[in-house]
Amino acid sequence: MAKVAFVTGGTRGIGLAVTARLKADGFKVAAGYHGDQAAAEKCASEHACMVVKGNVGDFADCTRAVQAVEAELGPIDVLVNNAGITRDAMLHKMTPEQWNEVIMVNLASIFNTSRQVIEGMRARGYGRIINISSINGQKGQMGQTNYSAAKAGVIGFTKALALESANKGITVNAVAPGYIDTEMMAGVPSGVLEKIVGGIPVGRLGKAEEIAACVAFLAREDASFITGSTVTVNGGQYVAG
Ligand code: CAA
Repeated sequence: MAKVAFVTGGTRGIGLAVTARLKADGFKVAAGYHGDQAAAEKCASEHACMVVKGNVGDFADCTRAVQAVEAELGPIDVLVNNAGITRDAMLHKMTPEQWNEVIMVNLASIFNTSRQVIEGMRARGYGRIINISSINGQKGQMGQTNYSAAKAGVIGFTKALALESANKGITVNAVAPGYIDTEMMAGVPSGVLEKIVGGIPVGRLGKAEEIAACVAFLAREDASFITGSTVTVNGGQYVAG
């Protein structure tokens, strides 16, 4: 029977590519979204997937969203924690709102969603949790104390939950994308973007599909001996140890 995947932030950017890839690989997919109704409708019709609206930064809203997915598609086998935002500013200009929003949406969210599915995965003896971190959680990035802290936190969470889950048939891994050609890059000033691309040995931005391919690999049943890992997909921009 087809396995069920829930991809947060699954209707745009990297998440949309993950939704499309997992659907093509035979999963029943639910894509979470927050505000962009038009993108959600397009995703649902183009990829024949369920879409579910909600705020990953809010625990109760995640309870409701996960219940809706499981009622329609069945128990979630694969959770992809992809939803994320940037609110870039140097720390000396950063507001508490910019800090809090990024921590809630990029870090608290993975507790809020994983907590909903972990008991069922443990009871069934199977699960895949894949958390989207970032190169900037590995190396730090000027203008991103909030984002780098959240994305580094994602890696710590991944390692701890992997240890808790290893004997229950559940793997928990992180993927750390580099700079990928999505809407998120629109916020980067153009002069800065040129500097960034100049520092990528492959010589270009990554493609969302290249991240999706990595997520799809970790989501496979036979990726069962990979857990607690952080897979870097960054065109050689940062070669993490
Ligand atoms: N790489 C190299 N240099 C950078 C840089 C970067 N990522 N970000 C900023 N700089 C440099 C600027 O070029 C500038 O240098 P000069 O003074 O030599 O011109 C200097 O830092 C100051 O920058 P600004 O003049 O832009 O200062 P500001 O206060 O107006 O803004 C900033 C600072 C918010 C950091 C802004 O430059 C910015 O948004 N930079 C991009 C930060 C970034 O890389 N964000 C990643 C977004 S994509 C993402 O997050 C996805 C992911 O996971 C990878």
